[in-house]
Amino acid sequence: MRVIIQENYDKVCQWAANYIAGKINGHKEERPFVLGLPTGSSQLGLYKELVKKYENGEVSFENVVTFNMDEYLGLPREHPQSYWTYMHENLFNHVNIPEENTNILNGMTDDPEGECERYEEKIASYGGVDLFVGGIGVDGHLAFNEPFTSLTSRTGVRTLTDDTRIANSRFFDYDPEKVPEKALSVGIGTVTDAKEVLILISGHNKARALAATVEGNVSMKWTCSALQLHNGAIISCDEDACGELMVDNYKYFLALEKEERL
Ligand code: GLP
Repeated sequence: MRVIIQENYDKVCQWAANYIAGKINGHKEERPFVLGLPTGSSQLGLYKELVKKYENGEVSFENVVTFNMDEYLGLPREHPQSYWTYMHENLFNHVNIPEENTNILNGMTDDPEGECERYEEKIASYGGVDLFVGGIGVDGHLAFNEPFTSLTSRTGVRTLTDDTRIANSRFFDYDPEKVPEKALSVGIGTVTDAKEVLILISGHNKARALAATVEGNVSMKWTCSALQLHNGAIISCDEDACGELMVDNYKYFLALEKEERL
């Protein structure tokens, strides 16, 4: 696992945007580049950077197909807090991705299991995900795979923990009760099947989750720890998020990635 520590959040996003654009530009096959995408405040800076790159002619999304990680169950896509709205407001409306190339689980489906099965099949029909980009929750969840979700799970229905509903209540009038109880989410296995995984982690409140991802035991308690079993996982993080890493490990990662520090 590569751990790339940047001075601050802006640099985390710039590094990640450069990496993603480099992968899209380096994709010379006719089949589209398949990109897994997250939502959350940690990704806002990343999407700003990607839009900037598109506007500067540094990257094109014409031959990119995206699969979003998750969506709240029971929120119509027009809801201001749906991940459909988030993706359109922050990325899709500002770049040249064809609408039919974007995939987001339908939170209003009356057949959640079928919806999730079809999502997996559609990912497979493209030959799998080339690069899955993600963030993590304070409790270490990857997509909406809360603690004790199987590390081989596939796309399915997830029940949010109280911690997550409290954390996400900032988008729902600070009322955890207004945060949907369930979500549709790709599984940990869906993410780790991708050829590469890039996770952005920023801020003091993610320090325990980062330490669990990098130094902890592989365990369902911290679903992010499954990344240790992936052969192409990269963590792009800021110094604030490194507060719980052992000092020696922190120094080792810095030394290994000296050239990658912006
Ligand atoms: C939500 C999403 C996750 C995301 C997490 C962290 O719970 N389902 O995919 O990683 O939020 O978000 P933030 O970056 O806002 O802390």
